[in-house]
Amino acid sequence: MKKNILITGGAGFIGSHTYIALVAAGYVPIILDNFCNSNPIVLERLERISHLQLKFIKGDIRDSKLLGKIFLDYNISSVIHFAGLKSVGESVEKPLEYYDNNIIGTLNLLMAMRSANIQTLVFSSSATVYGNPVSAPISENFARCATNPYGRSKLIIENILEDVYQSEPGWNIACLRYFNPVGAHRSGLIGEDPLGIPNNLMPYIAQVAIGRRDHLNVFGGDYPTHDGTGVRDFIHVMDLAEGHVAALEYLYSKRGMLTVNLGTGHGVSVLQMIQAFEQASGMKVSYKIVNRRPGDVAECWADTTLAEQKMGWVARRSLQEICEDAWRWQSNNPNGFNS
Ligand code: NAD
Ligand code: UFG
Repeated sequence: MKKNILITGGAGFIGSHTYIALVAAGYVPIILDNFCNSNPIVLERLERISHLQLKFIKGDIRDSKLLGKIFLDYNISSVIHFAGLKSVGESVEKPLEYYDNNIIGTLNLLMAMRSANIQTLVFSSSATVYGNPVSAPISENFARCATNPYGRSKLIIENILEDVYQSEPGWNIACLRYFNPVGAHRSGLIGEDPLGIPNNLMPYIAQVAIGRRDHLNVFGGDYPTHDGTGVRDFIHVMDLAEGHVAALEYLYSKRGMLTVNLGTGHGVSVLQMIQAFEQASGMKVSYKIVNRRPGDVAECWADTTLAEQKMGWVARRSLQEICEDAWRWQSNNPNGFNS
């Protein structure tokens, strides 16, 4: 029988793409989202891509009663937990909101899961838990440290999940540490749609290419990297989505606790990304090199050996595919979901 999977935050960037990967793998995903950082139009788009009627509940993960009802009504077998706030800068300004949404929300979810006897969970962690890593590639046994409230919320949740796993038999938990998710589904129907001025490189580049912004500020040209700009591990969001399916399958077959990096294992610099995007889109991306952004590290990319060994998963899509898919999404939807 097909398994029902609850995806918290499933209307967001990564959750919506994971919805498609889950359907393709034969699961029945059910989305719970309060739309605090997403647009309801995504739901229609998911139906167009999947040719299936979508199961959706509008609500908040901090609502225990609602969670209990969902678990009862839908015979949920496991949960993929994306819901959370994710902006580093905003977390410095509003730490209480971040701890409330991310930590209290996760505690509430875990308690509701326990009451409903659901013990399989995939959690969205982040490479941010490595703080300022001493070197790259970064493997899972590197020291963890938080440099801002957002990162601290992820680190605390990882610790909570480790404690729960140790204390209560029967839990199966995957912590997936994402590097830099980018790109879009190849249909061009869903993609990243940040509110206001994008914080992240890829949506900023795409908005310069489409003419919504004048130029990109490249934060720092004097890093000790091959071209002086920051280097990151940009992973296609559909590869990342498929990593969640691989994690679920690992938990169903092998059981236990798994903490793995999800990245490509390769670093790409800001200037390389600009060049790849210009090539894929045929558009000019004007840029200016400005001061470093406080808190940024020079280089951050993943050692992906463990994900391959444990789950048989590797990222397959190229930088060119990332840029082509991001551009298809941006050019078909110049103003995002509200185009
Ligand atoms: P997103 O903001 O696009 O998606 C998160 C979704 O959760 C949104 O639809 C939002 O409306 C919903 N949500 C937030 N709080 C909620 C609550 N209390 N109840 C119900 N729904 C709620 O973000 P994303 O990029 O898809 O990220 C998903 C997860 O992955 C987040 O936990 C994020 O911290 C983590 N992550 C993201 C990145 C990245 O670069 N995008 C990197 C590492 C980790
Ligand atoms: N960059 C620019 N100009 C911009 C935006 C970014 O030059 O307008 C540069 C940054 O300085 C960095 C690179 O592009 O060198 C990537 O920056 P992003 O903001 O896209 O991504 P980060 O690696 O800084 O941040 C991501 C997630 C965070 C997470 C962090 C650490 O967005 O949530 O990885 O894992 F905390």
